[in-house]
Amino acid sequence: MNLILMGAPGAGKGTQAELISEREGIPAISTGQILRNAMKAGTPLGLEARSYVESGALVPDATVIGIVKEYLGSEECRKGFILDGFPRSTAQAVALKEFGIKIDAVLSINVSDERIVRRMSGRRVCECGASYHIDYLPPAKEGICDKCGRELFIRRDDRPETVLARLKTYHEETEPLIEFYRNEGILVEVEGQERVEDTTALVKKALECAVKK
Ligand code: AP5
Repeated sequence: MNLILMGAPGAGKGTQAELISEREGIPAISTGQILRNAMKAGTPLGLEARSYVESGALVPDATVIGIVKEYLGSEECRKGFILDGFPRSTAQAVALKEFGIKIDAVLSINVSDERIVRRMSGRRVCECGASYHIDYLPPAKEGICDKCGRELFIRRDDRPETVLARLKTYHEETEPLIEFYRNEGILVEVEGQERVEDTTALVKKALECAVKK
């Protein structure tokens, strides 16, 4: 299965991508996580990305397209993949089409801006990429990652003013892609629920129907 996950910042793309990845045994490719890892390591990519990520803007298309192209051509993605956070602009969607890889479904998780803002204030993340929520998806031990035991922290771009900027970028640059994929006949939409497991159930059902088509 070649799958794209779409939705506003904080809609739950990363959470669902991880669950689908475990269930289906295919890798989840999060462009946001790749950029954050590069920023942490201080690589040229990280240095280029930092000001865009921390202000809630999109990193230039050519940079992100190059990264994704490399991943999709790797052995790891041979059996399928989940793209989390790509494409995010018309130029990225066009580039993905030009790669010539068939996409089976584009899953959009819809959550209102008001709920997004509330959710983001409770997100805690780990360097290993795991993500939690203090109320909706708490770790077993407060402040500690279940997967690797490291201390959890708040993402720099989860500050309220940056969240608003990211939502603006989403509505202006990414949301138009929903129509693009609806016209391609591969769009599947689910309403993001208050509890992670309720969204997971809807996602599972929606994907089963999409793949059967
Ligand atoms: P990225 O990391 O992709 O951030 P994002 O799209 O803003 O999405 P998030 O990771 O914030 O949220 P999510 O939808 O994955 O939600 P999550 O599952 O964590 O990108 C960061 C930046 O990188 C961008 O702003 C941009 O600068 C740059 N970038 C990345 N890709 C790019 C591209 N293609 N082109 C250009 N630039 C790019 O959930 C959020 C919280 O809610 C968590 O705490 C979670 O536990 C909780 N939660 C999840 N589901 C539920 C639920 N159903 N009920 C209650 N709580 C829930």
